[in-house]
Parts: sequence; C-alpha cells; structure tokens
Amino acid sequence: MIRSAAKITGIGTYVPDSRLTNEDLEKLVDTSNEWIVQRTGMKERRIASENEYASTLAIKAVEDLIKRYNVEISDVDGIIVATTTADYSLPSVACQIQAYFNISHVAAFDLSAACAGFTYGLHVANGLITSGVHKKILVIGSEVMSKITDYTDRTTCVLFGDGAGAMLLEYDEQNPSFIATHFGTDGAGGGHLYRSNLSTAIFDSEIALGGKLVQNGREVYKFAVRTVPKGVKTLLENAAFQHSDVQWFVPHSANLRMIESICTKTGIPIDQTLTSVEYRGNTSSASIPLSLDAGIKDGKVQKGDMLILYGFGGGLTHCGVLLTWTCSEKN
Ligand code: ACO
Repeated sequence: MIRSAAKITGIGTYVPDSRLTNEDLEKLVDTSNEWIVQRTGMKERRIASENEYASTLAIKAVEDLIKRYNVEISDVDGIIVATTTADYSLPSVACQIQAYFNISHVAAFDLSAACAGFTYGLHVANGLITSGVHKKILVIGSEVMSKITDYTDRTTCVLFGDGAGAMLLEYDEQNPSFIATHFGTDGAGGGHLYRSNLSTAIFDSEIALGGKLVQNGREVYKFAVRTVPKGVKTLLENAAFQHSDVQWFVPHSANLRMIESICTKTGIPIDQTLTSVEYRGNTSSASIPLSLDAGIKDGKVQKGDMLILYGFGGGLTHCGVLLTWTCSEKN
C-alpha cells in the first residue's frame, strides 16, 4: 500500500485518421500479413500526418477529456507529458500544452521513460499531489512513433503507431485512486532499444544518429516477460491483494504474443486484459491510456473496478500502478 491523496477524474484520447495496414507494409518491406499477425497480433496502426506532432495529438486528447468529463483545467498546476517523440528537444511538449490552453500557474515538463512513460507519469503525479505540493495535474502520453521509425527496416517498421492519451489527477484525500506502485530500471540494457540524438559513443550505430529507432526485439521481449510478471506479483503483495481482486490488467501494448506470455506467467486471464495492439500497434507511452479508454468506451471498465496498468520499454524501464477506477463521464 502507498499513501495516496490523488484521484483520477477523467481520461481522453486521440488517434490520427490515417491507417497503415499490414498490406501497406507488405509494399514497403519484405514482410507479410501472416508474419506480422502471428508474431505481434497487429493488423493496423494510425499514422500522424506531416503536420501532426506529439503536441498536436496531446492537445486533442486533452480536449477529448474536457468534453467527456466536464472538467476545468484552467487551475491545473502541473503538466507531465510522457513522450519519446517530442516536437523539439526544447521546449518541452508540456510547455506547448501550457501555452495552448493558456494555463496560468503551472509546473510543466516532459518525462522520458519510453513505453513506461505514462505509468511513470501517474506515479510522479500521485507523489506530487499526495505530498500536498500540487492539487491538479494533467498526465499525458503522446507519441508520433512514425516520425522516428525507419520504414526500410522490417524488424521495427511493422510495430509502431501514433496516438495520445491524457488523464487528470486531482487532490482528494477521501477517495484516492492509487493503491500501489512498483518501478524499476535496467540501464545496462539501454542498447537494446534506443534512438540517438547527439551521440553514437555508447550504442554502436550510425543509423540512429539524429533520429531513427533501433531495437533488439528479442532482448526487449525477454526483459518484458521476465520483469512484468514479477512486478505484478509485487504490486499485489504490496497491497495484500489477490488476482481475483483485480478486474482489468492493462499492460503496455507492445506485442500480443508477449502479453499472452505475461498473462500465463502472472495467472491473469487474457480476457481480463485490455490492449490496443491489434488496431493501434505499439504507441509507446500512449498505449496504456488508449487501451484503457477503449475498455471504458466498450462498457467493460466501470467506476470502482480495480486495475493494474503496467508499462515497460526502452531504458530499459518498467512501472506498474494498481488503482481503483474513480471516474465516470460528466461526473
Ligand atoms: N517480416 C518478416 N520477417 C521478419 C520481420 C518482418 N517484419 N521482422 C523480422 N523478421 C525475421 C527476422 O529477420 C528473422 O529472420 P532470420 O531467422 O532469417 O534471421 C526472423 O524473422 C525472426 O526474427 P526475430 O527478431 O527473432 O523475431 P521475433 O519472434 O523475436 O519477433 C518482434 C520480433 C516482433 C520484434 C519481437 O521480438 C517483439 O515484439 N519484441 C518486443 C518489442 C517491444 O516490446 N518493444 C517494447 C518497447 S517499445 C518502446 O519502448 C518504444
């Protein structure tokens, strides 16, 4: 159990209109629909237009949140944007969000934890609110993975898609959402998934200098199936919970095969798992809110449900959050 005085009061999401199907990818690289579906479970992904960036997608996700949950954001005092595909190295996407919504008094910063970014963002925001320093924080995961994907590399280009998700957290001592969090880092595995900006000194590749993603998929796969089940176990133990107390498991949607393996190891039934991998691909820090919001829209997730959200990815990073779903639309 952790101390929490932060309540989630809304969620919003956005994906671009343009679709990239497996058949489209067959025309770009030596791959097949059959290989992609069998190895990843993916059928299509959404791709940002030339003029859409992480900030554009993030703004649309926040607008969706405001519209559906009837919340006020002018008094938000913290904006955390988890992204690996910021429009600029500086200023941060969070600063662009502040400017767009003209929020007057706010701490705004980006958080770099790859596909674990959204759950890291929730973890940090819960800490800031529970400590009494902040009262209302927007946590956003927004990615335009297509802009850093090498569409001549079949080992990565079939995997990634674009999207954004946002949650609002507010101070509420009586009805907090957060029950337990668990996190970890294996920096020695950083070379298994990276994108260089300035240096090729550590991870030996010229391909990534200035931009494209390089991945040793098999190593990342092994990291996830080794780490996430242990993390889920720790979360449940810390809260003195059983699997049966949890209604929905929302792992990072990196690969359906990997999620099935994690479910087998944790003992969580696959039909209690929410994913967005089939029609969104791997949207990095946006995948968890996209999967959860789809579950809400399908009427699966109800107020009062216990959820485990678990992010993992480049870094190597992982972060899990056990929480009660505390909001309903127009609350
Ligand atoms: N189409 C056809 N063949 C392919 C493709 C493709 N798109 N990609 C690779 N192959 C080939 C390989 O070249 C290899 O051929 P070879 O045996 O002749 O050398 C064969 O398929 C097997 O390749 P593997 O890489 O061993 O395939 P694997 O079963 O491991 O699947 C995959 C690859 C899907 C990438 C998987 O390893 C994976 O999903 N890993 C996890 C990735 C991940 O979770 N990333 C998360 C974090 S993302 C973030 O933080 C931003």
